[in-house]
Amino acid sequence: MTFEGGEGSGKTTQAVRLCRSLTERGYTVLQTREPGGTLVAERLRSILLERSAEPMAPETETLIILAARRQHADQVIRPALARGVLVICDRFSDSTLAYQGYARGLDLNILKRMNAWATGGLTPHLTLHFDLPVATGLTRRRREALSQNRLDLEATRFHTKVRAGFLALAKREPRRIATIDARQSPEAIALQVETLVLKRLRSLRVNPTHHH
Ligand code: TMP
Repeated sequence: MTFEGGEGSGKTTQAVRLCRSLTERGYTVLQTREPGGTLVAERLRSILLERSAEPMAPETETLIILAARRQHADQVIRPALARGVLVICDRFSDSTLAYQGYARGLDLNILKRMNAWATGGLTPHLTLHFDLPVATGLTRRRREALSQNRLDLEATRFHTKVRAGFLALAKREPRRIATIDARQSPEAIALQVETLVLKRLRSLRVNPTHHH
């Protein structure tokens, strides 16, 4: 399962909450994030997000993200899935399509093929997309984050394209991607997230691994 959305959408907080609730219900859950999730991938994340005097081409950005994704898929995601663990990943392939595709303007079909190549064909069973007006997200992010990373500093126009990108992706794959209105209260969102996830787990016939 993956959590997606723009900056300041609250998806990370919701991922933590969902993991806690699923664990209480007896599921074995692994929470992780992209770019990152392994030692090498976290180092690549730093390169990606650091503010630097040297400009970075969208292609360079993409290759760093995909290198991190491959490492994460091999070292963490695939082994966990093989053990029957439920993996909840904060951002995944859809972020590459929204940020590097819709916002940076790289070819979507190439990015899709690169994603498939980098992940060895891993696709989320369910993607929760947290949608928020750009201004609201950026204000939240500026209030809450300790520092602004390289991508936070992009213009509003860039983040508007990211948002439109996620909405277009959700429209194209409505069965996999569920859009959640992230303007709601954290409690209302958590309830909606839990309902969607439990329903999907039932239809996938994924059961708790232990009982309390
Ligand atoms: P985060 O703020 O959710 O931790 O994400 C880190 C940044 O990385 C965020 O600005 C989006 C960016 N990113 C991409 O541009 N493409 C990707 O494929 C991923 C996973 C993240």
